[in-house]
Amino acid sequence: MTRRLLAEKRLCLATHNAGKARENAALLAGHGIEVVTAGELGLPVPEETETSFIGNATLKALAAARASGMVSMADDSGFSVAALDGAPGVHTADWAEQPDGTRDYAAAMAKVERLARHSPDRKAWFSCALALAWPDGHVEAFLGEAHGEWVWPPRGEKGFGYDPIFVPAGEAQSFAEMDPARKHAISHRAAAFRLLAEACLPRG
Ligand code: IMP
Repeated sequence: MTRRLLAEKRLCLATHNAGKARENAALLAGHGIEVVTAGELGLPVPEETETSFIGNATLKALAAARASGMVSMADDSGFSVAALDGAPGVHTADWAEQPDGTRDYAAAMAKVERLARHSPDRKAWFSCALALAWPDGHVEAFLGEAHGEWVWPPRGEKGFGYDPIFVPAGEAQSFAEMDPARKHAISHRAAAFRLLAEACLPRG
């Protein structure tokens, strides 16, 4: 299929998560694109039934494009540990889920440590898939990764999710210790967005 450029100046962000919406809106604003979120439009949240980051990002972007009639962007991200054959992977958020529906990332990170501590292989990576979907069903999807090692105990207060146990290759600080601008320059989300921007966005 031929690559499609984004001609629209406004798109729907298929997220109900305010933090993600802010981050993605800022990246798009750099290319002169305004956003409205699926949350603001009151669109339903589709179930993430795919087994890959690209699959889930595509499913969410297509659902929003069909429901809103607008070009829509969705992301799906997660943390993978080599010694755990890539787990938690697409189940990254689920590992933090508590019986009362809240998320406990300290517990999720402790689970990684409990399962992986016996392996000398400390390699880990974050992945981020970004998908752009058009109402006619066309999709462009991209995968960005940030490689490094998992560390224990958790370090730093700045990030979110699994940031305190991830030190990117070539860096001394964890994602949660470093200046957020540094994280945003080298993160999996930045890598995916660069690919998407190069392929589909008008030059800013
Ligand atoms: P999603 O909302 O389905 O994409 O789930 C993403 C999961 O991966 C959540 O549990 C996040 O906390 C975690 N995650 C994704 N990106 C990052 C990151 O940059 N730092 C830390 N955790 C992340």
